[in-house]
Amino acid sequence: MLHYSITGSGPALVLLHGFPDNKTIWAGVIPLLATQCTVIAPDLPGAGNSPLVGQMLLSDMAAEIAALLQQLGIQKAVIAGHSMGGYTALAFARLYPQMVAGISMINSTSKADDEEKKETRRKVIALISNGGREPFVRQMTPNLFAPQFAQSHPQVLAHKLSIALQMQDEGIINCYQAMIARPDSADVLQKAHFPVQWIRGQHDNIVDFRKSLSECQLSDVNFVYLYRNSGHMSHLEEPEKFVSDLLSFSHFCCNRHPEPTC
Ligand code: MLT
Repeated sequence: MLHYSITGSGPALVLLHGFPDNKTIWAGVIPLLATQCTVIAPDLPGAGNSPLVGQMLLSDMAAEIAALLQQLGIQKAVIAGHSMGGYTALAFARLYPQMVAGISMINSTSKADDEEKKETRRKVIALISNGGREPFVRQMTPNLFAPQFAQSHPQVLAHKLSIALQMQDEGIINCYQAMIARPDSADVLQKAHFPVQWIRGQHDNIVDFRKSLSECQLSDVNFVYLYRNSGHMSHLEEPEKFVSDLLSFSHFCCNRHPEPTC
């Protein structure tokens, strides 16, 4: 079972963290989101306090999220996923579309890895297997932020690094294998009966907004936001704007189909 926090009241909003993170990455925004929503933030398997049971694909992680929502008596929720959390949100929507009121893709994409990306990930897996976890995490962290933000907010980078360093080799390797194996999710969006929010960072080195605009018109109802001062970590780089945009989206989704409530 997933370790999670639940805060606030109102429509259900699930926050899925990215890689290599855990639910504490949302600590700065949860109190604000929870003034208007019931915010559920799990540790994905192999992150934080959630166990990894053998090798887990993103679809297995999605099944764990569905089990958690069922346990909480939540029939429908807005699922907001940051990067790998967004890939997981789409895996969830593929399996449990009836439980989705809306999907927020935060610095994320529906596209599968291309061959070059898969090869890079395989090299990282080899590096981690040879004891390279800490240098890898230290080297990747600054690259996740817009250069100006990184320069002016060293404490935010240090906080993000401390969270990333908590992930152990096994969890990192599993996430990379799961991301390599994930399918393209364009079909999920084409069939979507729910709205999709796209939050994009202008300085994102992982999801280039210029290359991934076409996917923002795959589903029928899309909201596209370009965060001009963000890299890959919009929820940390522009948190007030992020909270306001995610709350507006959640209300839009839940007022659209009042029953069953989310
Ligand atoms: C993340 O932030 O979750 C990862 O950078 C995603 C990825 O490597 O594709």
